[in-house]
Amino acid sequence: MVPLKRRKLGSSHTGNAGTNSGDEVKFPQVVLFLLERKMGASRRAFLSQLGRKKGFQVQELFSEIVTHVICENNSGEEVRTWLDSQASSRPGAHLLDISWYTESMRAGQPVEILDRHKLQELQISEAEVIMFSVPSYACQRRTSLENHNTPLTEALSLLAENAELSEDDGRGVAFRRAAAVLKALPSPVTSMSQLKGLPCLGEHSLRVIKDILENGSSIEVESTKNSERYNALKVLTGIFGVGSKTAERWIRAGIHSLHQLQDSGQTLNRAQQAGLEHYDDINQPVTKAEADVIGEIVEKAVVSVLPGAQIVLTGGFRRGKLTGHDVDFLITHPEEGREVGLMSKVVSWLESKGFLLYQKTTRNSYLESKDGPGRPASNIDRFERCFSIFKLAKEKETRTKDPQEVTENRVSAETDQNPNSDKLMNKQTDTPWRAVRVDLVVSPISQFAFALLGWTGSKLFERELRRWAGHERSMSLSSHALFDNKKGRYLRASSEEEIFAHLGLEFILPSERNA
Ligand code: CTP
Ligand code: MN
Ligand code: MN
Repeated sequence: MVPLKRRKLGSSHTGNAGTNSGDEVKFPQVVLFLLERKMGASRRAFLSQLGRKKGFQVQELFSEIVTHVICENNSGEEVRTWLDSQASSRPGAHLLDISWYTESMRAGQPVEILDRHKLQELQISEAEVIMFSVPSYACQRRTSLENHNTPLTEALSLLAENAELSEDDGRGVAFRRAAAVLKALPSPVTSMSQLKGLPCLGEHSLRVIKDILENGSSIEVESTKNSERYNALKVLTGIFGVGSKTAERWIRAGIHSLHQLQDSGQTLNRAQQAGLEHYDDINQPVTKAEADVIGEIVEKAVVSVLPGAQIVLTGGFRRGKLTGHDVDFLITHPEEGREVGLMSKVVSWLESKGFLLYQKTTRNSYLESKDGPGRPASNIDRFERCFSIFKLAKEKETRTKDPQEVTENRVSAETDQNPNSDKLMNKQTDTPWRAVRVDLVVSPISQFAFALLGWTGSKLFERELRRWAGHERSMSLSSHALFDNKKGRYLRASSEEEIFAHLGLEFILPSERNA
């Protein structure tokens, strides 16, 4: 094999050796390249030979010296995509149909280029190629749920997920940012040239995008998707309470599946036991209708134990998603301090009615005086919170006119018969209830706007808000507060709008935070 570089040099600088060997070059300014795509190798070889005989320079390899690209049965779009994928090309190179070539052969010289010779795409002209432009921070953009580039964003998200599962967060964020840029575009990407100047598209992401635009899929994505490791990590982290570190440790011990985990005798903590027991339910998406039913139950619990307390649906459902992996709620009381101790009362209420299959409550550990300026806003907030698994009656049980009825979990008695049976393998799918992951967070009213903003997501949107605050405004944003590092003081806010204003950002609706 001759290295590519030398082959290229050979064909362009050494008297066209290998291209016009023996044949006289009559038209030195015209350098042709015949695209093999759709033309086929043998026809291309035949036509090239013919051209050289007639004194044309016909290149074997494409490079920036090519002035005329000749194609057969290719659309302008296809050729443009192919051209963009080349290391370098001459800016004004003609993209021509084979008819120009055959007519030139017949004439014995290059014929005048007429409109009918040009590939359709050239007539559209560069000015009409849709070029995109988006600001670089996701929190400066409006990202609705309408995604015009699903094949590309799904591929990049899968690589992001794989990186995160492999504890490579830097790479994970890079892919997430790239996917988020594509999610914000107003129409589908059709050619690489449209992406020029867009932020956050690194070399790796661009390579993946190019593969998909050109070949319909990316080998890297496909092989990741089919890899044993990725699939094992996905299955194991699908267990509530199992993170990538634990999954990794199990995989090293030869555990790739739930069966193998069960047979392995690994000790599971309480969360993981519950996660394994309710594996199928928890990995089945939660619908908005189910979220609403749970909302009614939680509201009932909250007002029963503290009249006047308020709950808000946060997370993906607040952003307008129709399904989610869990349901998130934020609870507060309009009078500062009244919320203290609220979570344990709510949890007791829910437990007494049989609504909880699992819960773990964490106390509020945030103290402004201690956690304030000195400490940077941490990604993990310290509200009083509860990660739980709800026992939700299936639809026919909840369809009732009497709101009183949803406050009693009437299905509990009939299903508690086999508490720790081997549910996973021979789980009854006809139980009258399903398990649903629910997150509850309690915030004092003074921090409510920050908590609401912080728990609405998306995760990338939140991350970008904090990055913007730090890098562009010298501020620290958390789900508790906003600290101005230059002024050396907290900036108060009682609404999300005020926080965006403090940050010098346009207000973005929750439904536009789906970055
Ligand atoms: N969050 C957080 N701290 C956690 C977990 C979550 O601040 N320990 C925040 C996330 O940053 C996100 C929001 O809570 O903004 C919701 O997180 P999550 O439920 O994981 O994601 P959703 O966007 O709701 O997606 P899904 O619909 O799949 O649940
Ligand atoms: Mn959620
Ligand atoms: Mn959540």
